[in-house]
Amino acid sequence: MIALVNLPNTQPIPNPLREQPDFALPAGVAAQIEELITHYPRKRSASLMLLHAVQGQFGYISRQAVEWIAAKLELQPIAVYELVTFYPMLHSQPVGKYHLRICRTLSCALGGSYALHEFFCKRLGLDAQAHGPQTTADGRYTVEFVECLAGCGAAPVMMCNDAFHEGVTEQKAEAMLRECK
Ligand code: FES
Repeated sequence: MIALVNLPNTQPIPNPLREQPDFALPAGVAAQIEELITHYPRKRSASLMLLHAVQGQFGYISRQAVEWIAAKLELQPIAVYELVTFYPMLHSQPVGKYHLRICRTLSCALGGSYALHEFFCKRLGLDAQAHGPQTTADGRYTVEFVECLAGCGAAPVMMCNDAFHEGVTEQKAEAMLRECK
């Protein structure tokens, strides 16, 4: 027989999604979203398209955006939230103009991605020990560790916005920063 245990009171888990109390989509984007939904046999299938549309507008997906999309697609907010936290190209916080994502999975870790992350952090005045996304005070750069970017044979691998970079040395990283001016 299974004994029932009284669990101690726990604190609510902080919500990592940014608050956006003034969340409101421009009429054009809202109309685009209505149209997008009609492309799918089930509303749920439009989830990623809606997330991209909202992120395209605001640069990130807030808690209010998750709730709005969930209501629009007749889903529980958790069904939208899990997509935001699973896909690395979806952001739950605003990111800088240049988003530097450095792979830290095994091949890249062995190939020097931790040193590369440290290089960017030091060059941009960020905390080299942090693993989560960090954005410079001027909002120009966000540096973040991510998991495998599917280029394991060319470690260390990283992305600068949508551009994929393989075998990134400090020299290449320096050149990348020069191009991101
Ligand atoms: S381990 Fe870095 S791309 Fe796969």
